[in-house]
Amino acid sequence: MTTRDSAIDDSRRSSPRAAPARPARIRSAEPGDVPGWLHLAREVEHLFGPMAEVPEFRAALEKAIGDGHALAAVAPSDDGAEELAGGIVFSPEGGAIEWLAVSTRARGAGLGRELLAAAIARLDPAKPISVQTFAPASADGAAARRLYASFGFEDREDAEATPAGVPTVIMVRRASAGR
Ligand SMILES: CC(C)(COP(=O)(O)OP(=O)(O)OC[C@H]1O[C@@H](n2cnc3c(N)ncnc32)[C@H](O)[C@@H]1OP(=O)(O)O)[C@@H](O)C(=O)NCCC(=O)NCCS
Repeated sequence: MTTRDSAIDDSRRSSPRAAPARPARIRSAEPGDVPGWLHLAREVEHLFGPMAEVPEFRAALEKAIGDGHALAAVAPSDDGAEELAGGIVFSPEGGAIEWLAVSTRARGAGLGRELLAAAIARLDPAKPISVQTFAPASADGAAARRLYASFGFEDREDAEATPAGVPTVIMVRRASAGR
């Protein structure tokens, strides 16, 4: 764990886990989730790079939804409709987590953990699972790194920085490792 990770952990200790304003649930993502997903993508473009206005991103998202490889965390909104609070894309063929984000206002309430657990449950337990995530030098990536580590993912090798310039690594979870 890096010094930066520790600093963030200390701040978390003084503030208890946030209770979700409304209970969220995890379900397969649907075509109607795309606008909300692009809104969510905008929130993390400073980390991941451009997505919301990139046609290839939208096409890949629609394909993942069509293939059943995307899960959504949804909560009731003020008007009673569903609001996308988080999403994850995984690849059974590649044995990989390909995309994960939780909306800023919904963070710290366990949705990231629920999304990751649900995606891992849909992947082959006999095969390793990889994810390209943020390097220890990225303070903004500390939450994701700690989440993956708690599921048994370990740093494997350096990878290219994101288009936003954030350094990344490949983390791998060995077959049947972690929870
Ligand atoms: C990473 C992310 C998905 C976590 O979502 P979340 O719903 O806030 O996470 P949870 O509330 O389920 O917390 C799960 C674990 O993540 C880690 N974590 C979450 N927030 C953290 C923080 N601010 N600092 C350090 N660790 C944190 C902890 O290990 C936590 O488990 P714990 O509460 O038992 O200690 C969210 O912070 C996010 O979208 N970040 C920006 C995008 C990103 O980094 N995506 C992953 C790219 S591969």
